[in-house]
Amino acid sequence: MKSVENTPRDGFSSRFGVIAAAAGSAVGLGNIWRFPYVMGENGGAAFLLVYIVFVFAIGIPVLTSELLIGRKGQSNAVHSFRNLAPGKPWHIVGFLGVFCSYMILSYYSVVAGWTMHYVYLAVANGLKSLSVADLNSTYVAMTESPSISIFWLAIFLIATGLVVWGGVEKGIEKYSKILMPLLFLLIVLMCVRSLTLPGSIKGLTFLFEPDFSKLSPKVIIEALGQACFSLSIGMGIMITYGSYISKNQSLGRTSLSVASADLLIAILASVAIFPAAFAFGINPGQGPGLVFVTLPNIFNQMFGGYVFAILFFILLFIAALTSSISLLEVVVAYASEEWKIKRSTATMGAVIGAIVLGSLSAYSAVIFDLFDKTSANILLPLGALLVVLFIPIVLKKRGAKEELLASGGKAQLFGLYYFIIKYLAPIAIVLIFLQQFGLLDWIG
Ligand code: TRP
Repeated sequence: MKSVENTPRDGFSSRFGVIAAAAGSAVGLGNIWRFPYVMGENGGAAFLLVYIVFVFAIGIPVLTSELLIGRKGQSNAVHSFRNLAPGKPWHIVGFLGVFCSYMILSYYSVVAGWTMHYVYLAVANGLKSLSVADLNSTYVAMTESPSISIFWLAIFLIATGLVVWGGVEKGIEKYSKILMPLLFLLIVLMCVRSLTLPGSIKGLTFLFEPDFSKLSPKVIIEALGQACFSLSIGMGIMITYGSYISKNQSLGRTSLSVASADLLIAILASVAIFPAAFAFGINPGQGPGLVFVTLPNIFNQMFGGYVFAILFFILLFIAALTSSISLLEVVVAYASEEWKIKRSTATMGAVIGAIVLGSLSAYSAVIFDLFDKTSANILLPLGALLVVLFIPIVLKKRGAKEELLASGGKAQLFGLYYFIIKYLAPIAIVLIFLQQFGLLDWIG
């Protein structure tokens, strides 16, 4: 049995490994099925500009704060808070993260399972020459057949479990270092295919042509919300990963790299999807419809579509896998360290539980939506807000500075970071909250 006190904790062995794992968590379906459409609809390059400002001004400081709490606390999402604020109720923030991660893991696996089913369909030529109506009924049949969903989500969760079972260095880091470059390569290939289609330029124009008149306050807060969601903050993931980062790696620079990779993949996904859709005169839309109906339709009409359909669903599968690895790790780190059980036992238990919970989401769209809405719209911003408050209230300027400047770094930059965390970030997150509950609708 692993004793928490006596054995040195497992951890990441390289800078690239840290970035690959954290970027793997951040790059998910949000980058591929949401960002492109939201950008295209809301002012193109104008939206992108606002989005980038928020990634830098809010996203990176909050991400840095989570990594900081983990590395300073040197434990899982719950115990890091206990170590840093003994006797205070802050560890509840950690519980919230573990709970939220597990909830997301269960329903996320349903969608991830669908991507695997579509890899299978694409390979078996089961999507070829289907009309849009037939593609739609293929998709609906899958979502309405719990047995297909449960079969694939179980396989997906077992695959996730096998990676996490291996530990941080020999599991998560090892696979992230292979999967993330592969994901990047696949998305670049998709971009090349998309841009070489005749008429693709219209899609680029739609995507990037700046239209500042679209930037209503509502759109601006939407950009802020998407920036935070896309970085997977507010649920203990980056706290857990932060605890595995060596003391001589700069956390600020790590966050910068992770956020840049996340942004780059979102932009590449846009270039892979929109020009191709416009080349065939199709409005791509967003969400599951885009991925499981519209894109297969586009692949059917494109030269080389058979291969690109397979590659695309493999890409989605990888994006989902590296995200679910991070979700499972939050739960496994907590269970194995707090309950002093073996990592393998914790992993197995968590995977079995997630298969059961995931099956509920596969059976019932109501449960699926409940898990999705509660986690993304309520728990995630709440978690992020509490993390941000924790820094000035508990760690204070000195505690935060000590950890962030441990590996060198500029004092002025720290000043800027602290100002953002103390004043701007809490306001920003409260605005996201209000927006999600429709309380800002009056500003249009
Ligand atoms: N960052 C993910 C995306 O862009 C979404 C997400 C938010 C997520 N929180 C997460 C994914 C936690 C996995 C785990 O799609």
